[in-house]
Amino acid sequence: MAGISPSILSADFANLARDVSLVADAGADMIHVDVMDGHFVPNISIGVPVVASLRKATAAFLDVHLMISQPEKYIEAFAKAGADLINIHAEAEGCIGEMIDKIHALGKKAAVTIKPNTPENVLFPYLDILDMVLVMSVEPGFGGQAFMPSSLDKVRSLKAEITRLGSHCLIEIDGGINLSNAHDVIAAGADILVAGSAVFGATDVQAAVKAFKTI
Ligand code: DX5
Ligand code: ZN
Repeated sequence: MAGISPSILSADFANLARDVSLVADAGADMIHVDVMDGHFVPNISIGVPVVASLRKATAAFLDVHLMISQPEKYIEAFAKAGADLINIHAEAEGCIGEMIDKIHALGKKAAVTIKPNTPENVLFPYLDILDMVLVMSVEPGFGGQAFMPSSLDKVRSLKAEITRLGSHCLIEIDGGINLSNAHDVIAAGADILVAGSAVFGATDVQAAVKAFKTI
């Protein structure tokens, strides 16, 4: 059984505390928070103040996905705001190893994400120190896009390398995940599934979370 990290990008931003409580009470393992700067990706979403407000509203594990060009500048602010895990992109500016160390020094879990055109082996040097890697199965920037099956081979390859190293690093997958493809991504080796529209776009949000948890 994999974990589920509902993406609040598809939640109602005017009722975030309510929507986060709904999915947390239904058994969500993490809450996925998509931060976009309008530069690294062609969209703007939310930032540090929203993470700080969510921290006051929930005890749930906050999985913060930074789709921003200069993550190094903001790691400390997101840590202080209450992120539990800080996820930076391999394609962003800055030294990946130094940023992982900085996240850990702030007492937070660290993850690195790859976009669909980035080979998974850029993550290999960090698998023994990372808490999680994230494989994007859509181009980052928007919810509701179609799943890219090419991401499955990357998950398989990362799983093999993590197993070979004896690392505890988890594999998360994000983009176009739904109840129809969840089985395939879990079979490939994904540990945590991010789902935005498949959870918050469902008629019964809590039933959707529970359905993911039974796969
Ligand atoms: C996209 C974000 C995703 C997005 C997923 O850039 O990183 O987390 O919210 O949405 P769905 O599940 O609708 O593809
Ligand atoms: Zn995301």
